[in-house]
Amino acid sequence: METKQESRISPRNGRRVILFPLPFQGHINPMLQLGSILYSKGFSITIIHTKFNSPNSCNYPHFDFHSISDGLTDPSAEDSTTILITLNAKCMVPFRNCLAKLVSNTNNNNAQEDSVACLITDFLWQFTHVADEFKLPTIILQTHSVSGYLGIAAYPFLRDKGYVPIQDPQSESPVIEYPPLRVKDIPKLETRYPEYNYPLVSAMVNNIKASSGMIWNTFEELEQAALSTLPEEYSGIPVFPIGPFHKYFPASSSSLLSQDQSSISWLDKQAPKSVIYVSFGSVAAINETEFLEIAWGLANSRVPFLWVVRPGLVDGVEWLEALPKGYLEMVDGRGYIVQWAPQQQVLAHPAVGGFLTHSGWNSTLESICEGVPMICQPCLADQMVNARYVSHVWRVGLHLEGKLEKKEIETAIRRLMVEAEGQEMRERITCLKKNVDACLRQGGSSHQALGRLVDHILSF
Ligand code: UDX
Repeated sequence: METKQESRISPRNGRRVILFPLPFQGHINPMLQLGSILYSKGFSITIIHTKFNSPNSCNYPHFDFHSISDGLTDPSAEDSTTILITLNAKCMVPFRNCLAKLVSNTNNNNAQEDSVACLITDFLWQFTHVADEFKLPTIILQTHSVSGYLGIAAYPFLRDKGYVPIQDPQSESPVIEYPPLRVKDIPKLETRYPEYNYPLVSAMVNNIKASSGMIWNTFEELEQAALSTLPEEYSGIPVFPIGPFHKYFPASSSSLLSQDQSSISWLDKQAPKSVIYVSFGSVAAINETEFLEIAWGLANSRVPFLWVVRPGLVDGVEWLEALPKGYLEMVDGRGYIVQWAPQQQVLAHPAVGGFLTHSGWNSTLESICEGVPMICQPCLADQMVNARYVSHVWRVGLHLEGKLEKKEIETAIRRLMVEAEGQEMRERITCLKKNVDACLRQGGSSHQALGRLVDHILSF
């Protein structure tokens, strides 16, 4: 709950918003950033969260946190889609009970309690329509790009048209109905239970169609075309592209892993734009062969690198044991490896000149915001679509198209970091960065959308 001191900092408006993040890093970050944005606009904030991957409430003393049970027994043994399916099956009752308590507290209590205006929920939760029972409007937070979301929402259509199941994951054939996607860019939804994919996607789309609004962590200038296709399909639902969220409030406080600050002191010693930063986000996993190809691609490129090797990134390996003997000594001084980095600070550092990424939406947006061109190695879900947009629509990065191979990685790094082609991409992404700065300024597109969102919530 907020303290007296905090309420002096920011004028309160007497309304409370309940947020329900999905417990994955790439979803927690934007939801907590959104909470901070709405708090700064005068709303009180309640977070309902699962025990699994629960956010650190100490970093948000002005928010009210409520934990619910999630039914997960051994999440470390499951892939992310299977966890998602289990969470959706097991969390509905605890969530409903928690919501009931929160709403009745405000209804029954005296005027000191803020009245609950609405629920804001991640688009991948399937049961949040239980809020209807309490006459609580629901707004959906989209943590994917608009194009990435549309790629996933199209799954039943793509199945009916015969594109999925994907016969040839390397196929360059165009998906005629969804330009600029090729068959290889269709989101990969891999799970132990593929039969749940379609119900999952259908529930997601139906939830959104029944919602009172959609908040996007994107900005109009970046995704105008995709945004303009939304109203046809989701007519009548107000759309609020207010991103990039992390430019209002950084994500460091919602990091589930401790961020190794020595990354920054190491970068301080490197020449401007000389370092390639490498990270595959919080969920993607690679095998040992791919890991070694990356290691050799980095070493052979002769470009300095900062590499995030998250524990769990490499299947069946704890951390760096798979590296060949002598590798670390060989790259000493030119390469630096950490388990988790303060990514936004890293991308904003003058020494960073490129980003080898899995093309998660947060990473893509964070790179655009700092004008850092990318090499895309998408692994799953919306990442395939993001990579296609980065390389072929915005043309601010290269796409590693084939198998992860050291020669291809080395060549891509040199093309991006050393050759004229990379410089052109850097110039194009610098223009996008300027659009970011403009959209957040007074009167800019995201600034206006945020104003509309605040009015919309206050109207409930
Ligand atoms: C997942 C999906 O992979 C992604 O496609 C989807 O859009 C969101 O959910 P994730 O793998 O976590 O996301 O990637 P991403 O969306 O890029 O988010 C990662 C977040 O972790 C970023 O905000 C990034 O700044 C942060 N991060 C990453 C760190 O703080 N330190 C690191 O070392 C690496």
